[in-house]
Amino acid sequence: MRIVEVDLPTAERGYPVYICRGSLRELGRIAADHGFPRRLAVITDETVAGLYGHVALESLEGAGFAAELLVIPPGEGSKNLDTVRALYDALIRKDFDRGCGVCALGGGVVGDIAGLVAATYLRGLPWIQVPTTLLAQVDSSVGGKTGVNHPAGKNLIGAFHQPRFVLIDPQVLGTLPKRELWAGLAEVVKAGLIGSWELFSLLEENWTASLEGDLELLEAAIEGACRVKAEVVSRDEREAGLRRILNFGHTLGHALEAATGYTYFLHGEAVAWGMLGAAWLSRRRDLLGEEEGKRVESLLLSLPKPPLPGIPREKFREHLRRDKKIVAGVLHYVLLRGIGAATVEAGISEEELLSALDYIESLEARS
Ligand SMILES: NC(=O)c1ccc[n+]([C@@H]2O[C@H](COP(=O)([O-])OP(=O)(O)OC[C@H]3O[C@@H](n4cnc5c(N)ncnc54)[C@H](O)[C@@H]3O)[C@@H](O)[C@H]2O)c1
Ligand SMILES: [Zn+2]
Repeated sequence: MRIVEVDLPTAERGYPVYICRGSLRELGRIAADHGFPRRLAVITDETVAGLYGHVALESLEGAGFAAELLVIPPGEGSKNLDTVRALYDALIRKDFDRGCGVCALGGGVVGDIAGLVAATYLRGLPWIQVPTTLLAQVDSSVGGKTGVNHPAGKNLIGAFHQPRFVLIDPQVLGTLPKRELWAGLAEVVKAGLIGSWELFSLLEENWTASLEGDLELLEAAIEGACRVKAEVVSRDEREAGLRRILNFGHTLGHALEAATGYTYFLHGEAVAWGMLGAAWLSRRRDLLGEEEGKRVESLLLSLPKPPLPGIPREKFREHLRRDKKIVAGVLHYVLLRGIGAATVEAGISEEELLSALDYIESLEARS
């Protein structure tokens, strides 16, 4: 079993992230070792319930827990206050009290919703995360950010609520559609670029196996990515500064997602394009060397993703302006000082971002 510790300096305790193929069957034993409440609601979506709901329940019940599945429809469309309310209703109807706990079994959507429910129901219940997509395993399950969307924007309502532990079973990725796997892989590459030269090299040397979903390799890569995220979160639990580096590639990525109506790209695909633009800006500012820049570009270009559709510049500008990372009119932008080292720069103009868009469009035309 690989274990990554998330240390938190504040009153809230730190917690372990367990990573091991086949570990879903150990869920009950690990929850018991942690002294987790004996009655718990396992929040999941219809797809994951059908694939892994019974494995989770059997493991929990085998270890003496009383566990019930609460199932929501899959997809980002569920990530809203109506779903949260329906979950509150179910918990109240079933008499879940303060002595109970919550388990999130699913992708980032389930994790974000279940986490918000756990943070707020009866002013907070303990919870555990069992992420089942690669994106959730390397990104959303570590760090304690929970939340839902509002018609006015994504993730506008939420809370910080750290889980007691995170259990990652890479084996469940075997049923994940390849497109989702590749989108998650973009976030693994991001973790390598901002914080681990070793992780980037591991992916680079085993790129074909990574794309094919080789589980042994993915297990090592997940550990590497969780280490980077845990390190950043430990040093900046509430996103005051350092945590911004997790947004590498995301300013351009979010603008691409928004300008295409959130239907064309998966998040990780847009971020892969965004990272190509951000790496180019890093090179243009002489922060990133020519040779490293080429390595980054070659890896990201060979990650399967939809081509860039023609993006109207006005639309793109509009979305850039709405970006959350603009603080008091200044855009904080993450660049690379090398593979494995990120830096936050304040003086990046809109024009530079537009030229980065020109550049990635030209890359595509050449490839
Ligand atoms: N809290 C954070 O820090 C944080 C960070 C990054 C992203 N997010 C959020 O994460 C969400 C995206 O998460 P996601 O990409 O995991 O999407 P998702 O949760 O919608 O999962 C994608 C699809 O895969 C299915 N699925 C899940 N596990 C599966 C498996 N093992 N086999 C087969 N199918 C499976 C799901 O049912 C769903 O249809 C977004 O809402 C985003 O805002 C949160
Ligand atoms: Zn992301």
